[in-house]
Amino acid sequence: MKDTLLIIEDEALLGNELARFFSKQQWEVRLATHLTNARQLLNESQIDPLVILSDMNLPDGNALDFLEQSKTSLPNSEWIFLTGYGSVTDSVRALRLGAYDFIEKPCGLDRLNMLVEGAARSARAQRRLLQETSQHFNRYTTDALVGRSQKTKAVRDMLKQLSNVPFSSLVITGETGTGKGLITRILHYSGSRASKPLVELNCAAIPKDLLESELFGYEAGAFTGAKKRHRGLLEQADTGTIFLDEIGEMDLNLQGKLLKAVEELRFRRLGSETMVEVDVQIITATNRDLLQQVKNGQFREDLYHRLSVLNIHIPPLRERLEDLRDLVPQFVADCNIKSGKQIKIIPETVWEQLETYDWPGNIRELRNIIERCILLAEGDAFPVQWLQLPNKRPAISGAENTGMYIPLDGTLSLHDIEKLVLQEALLRANNNVTGAARMLRATRETMRYRVQKHHLKYDQD
Ligand SMILES: Nc1ncnc2c1ncn2[C@@H]1O[C@H](COP(=O)(O)OP(=O)(O)OP(=O)(O)O)[C@@H](O)[C@H]1O
Ligand SMILES: [Mg+2]
Repeated sequence: MKDTLLIIEDEALLGNELARFFSKQQWEVRLATHLTNARQLLNESQIDPLVILSDMNLPDGNALDFLEQSKTSLPNSEWIFLTGYGSVTDSVRALRLGAYDFIEKPCGLDRLNMLVEGAARSARAQRRLLQETSQHFNRYTTDALVGRSQKTKAVRDMLKQLSNVPFSSLVITGETGTGKGLITRILHYSGSRASKPLVELNCAAIPKDLLESELFGYEAGAFTGAKKRHRGLLEQADTGTIFLDEIGEMDLNLQGKLLKAVEELRFRRLGSETMVEVDVQIITATNRDLLQQVKNGQFREDLYHRLSVLNIHIPPLRERLEDLRDLVPQFVADCNIKSGKQIKIIPETVWEQLETYDWPGNIRELRNIIERCILLAEGDAFPVQWLQLPNKRPAISGAENTGMYIPLDGTLSLHDIEKLVLQEALLRANNNVTGAARMLRATRETMRYRVQKHHLKYDQD
């Protein structure tokens, strides 16, 4: 289906030329010659334009007033304005109101086309986000945090309370794999901002010098390579939540800029004069001790206090092993569905091993191990021989800590063994391909090829 472009232009000659041109660029074009006409198209014909290209001054009013009135009914359309020479005030107002851009008349069709394409990309991204939001709505209730221990119950109670009160910022701390990402989703999707975007940024996954432009966005020409205007993640999260994962990795300079933006709820895109206002709830997560970082001078104290108005700490799994009794059956059931297996029995020896292991990788490690076991299972019992918890491996000289146990009794084919080795290396490298490649003395490319061959999951790096 073609996307719709609504053109509002009273000069018939220009209007028709634009309509002809954009129809050839794969747009479903609707042309309105004045605002009443545009209103009718939107209300009666129920069109849902991806982009609206509008003249500023129309016979029956100013298009900016029209934008202001229609903003709530068209939250995911982008607007571009055609302005007369020198109407600076109008252009500034247009951007304040959230227009994508404006362009002075007369303008070349090629330039205009580039602008329309940029606006279309931006509107599509917003729509995708909205669609994902509605899919997540039912999945992330407070019950998604599984576990019967007092510690987990306390966290669940806190989440229930927080879903009824609006908060501006909150810090989640906990070791790797304890559920910081999950808790963020629960907070967002069970709170009042649930139908608004949740935007995530992992501060450790992005090179330091790109982090600022990712967060704040930039104007075309702000730096070499900035060809088009880019809306930053803070802006994309407007009215919703921004999740800054691994905040401890952010450098001090950017921490200062973030603090200013968070306090004022406005900022400038890189290379821009105009302030953009945003309304965002900020959730940050870290597996580091932020207070210690403050003491060491690696994290700004003022930012720490601003972000940690509320604090949720998730204890490591080894401090709440009772949760295994709920987590394991749930993960087994999930994996059964995914792999088409029917594991129904979990032998007591399996429980014994699970409950005496210290789980350095926490719930993520548990889930990965269960996934591996179910994949290799035959019959209806959980295969204890595939648990292979690091301190519980069958004793074979040299295999205790760094090696692994592979039975050569005919139960596994060479193909299975390769898969098992890859899986184990990925597990130990926290799903990082480069780390796993190092363990197997392979290149990253070889590793990636083999991992894909076996349809194994891994993190992009
Ligand atoms: N209490 C829980 N109940 C059910 N699933 C959980 C629970 N805690 C964590 N999980 C699951 O475990 C996995 C790891 O959790 P998550 O990614 O949220 O950890 P994290 O703390 O963000 O880790 P990292 O610091 O490495 O980013 C996810 O699949 C998550 O859904
Ligand atoms: Mg995480």
